[in-house]
Amino acid sequence: MAGIAYVEGRYLPQADARVHMEDRGYQFADGVYEVIAVQAGHLVDGEGHLARLERSLDALGIPMPSSRKALETVLHEVIRRNRLQFGSLYLQITRGAAPRDHIYKDGMKPVVTVAAKRVSPPSRAASLRGYSVISLPDIRWGRCDIKTVSLLPNIMGKNQAVRAGAAEAWMYDDEGLVTEGTSSNVWIVTQKGELVTRQLDEGILAGITRNAIIAHAQKFQIKVIERAFTLEEAKGAREAFFTSATAILRPVVQIDGVRIGDGQVGPIARRLADAYFDALDALGTAP
Ligand code: PDD
Repeated sequence: MAGIAYVEGRYLPQADARVHMEDRGYQFADGVYEVIAVQAGHLVDGEGHLARLERSLDALGIPMPSSRKALETVLHEVIRRNRLQFGSLYLQITRGAAPRDHIYKDGMKPVVTVAAKRVSPPSRAASLRGYSVISLPDIRWGRCDIKTVSLLPNIMGKNQAVRAGAAEAWMYDDEGLVTEGTSSNVWIVTQKGELVTRQLDEGILAGITRNAIIAHAQKFQIKVIERAFTLEEAKGAREAFFTSATAILRPVVQIDGVRIGDGQVGPIARRLADAYFDALDALGTAP
């Protein structure tokens, strides 16, 4: 969408929005980002996304460019100037621009950019369909808890999945344990009916949607276990699904061509998706 973007203190038509060619984000992927869904003009879980953004910046020693409140004001202004009702905001903060050098200097000015994306209101129907995923070795670095713009393995994996007719690639580590999707967190429902999602550590991103789904599950007294599971366990699970701010909840009915459960969208996935959509609808619905 050719909307209004925010670049270093200015609101500009996206076509005129520019950053320096020696921005360290461009040359070294030295920066972090957030994708925040917008529902009826409201940020979805804005607080959670901004808290995670601060953690990512802190881990890389990039200073927060302004107060959280001021950053939030920018996000709301981008929504307002774009008259954005449904879609998402892409917020990126890089360490800044400087002559290319692996060593960065203290006191650099972070570069903040925000772009808006308009999409149709999220549909419950998308969460009632079954999706296929493939599996791939996780070849990423050891700090996947930091939401850096360095996404090449994720990009390669997602494209391989889509070319194979799948919706996502689930990645597994050297021990065969599933880490996460290329842009989502992963879940299974075991044959015992336990809801399992990988524990938070440096191997995965602490998904904001993951948090919300855990809270919904607890509300329904569905037992949530945060632990790693193998690909084999996932293939033998009763249900499987993945979550992210933009995909929301997508049930998985096939992993590497192996049918999951009875091949239909399962009751727990359906219930959790419904709860998530009810919470979204409480923010406002499409006319
Ligand atoms: N990605 N894991 C990875 C590697 C991700 O890139 C994402 C989100 C998630 C889910 O996090 P959340 O629930 O906070 O969206 C997990 C975003 C949507 C993206 O890169 O477009």
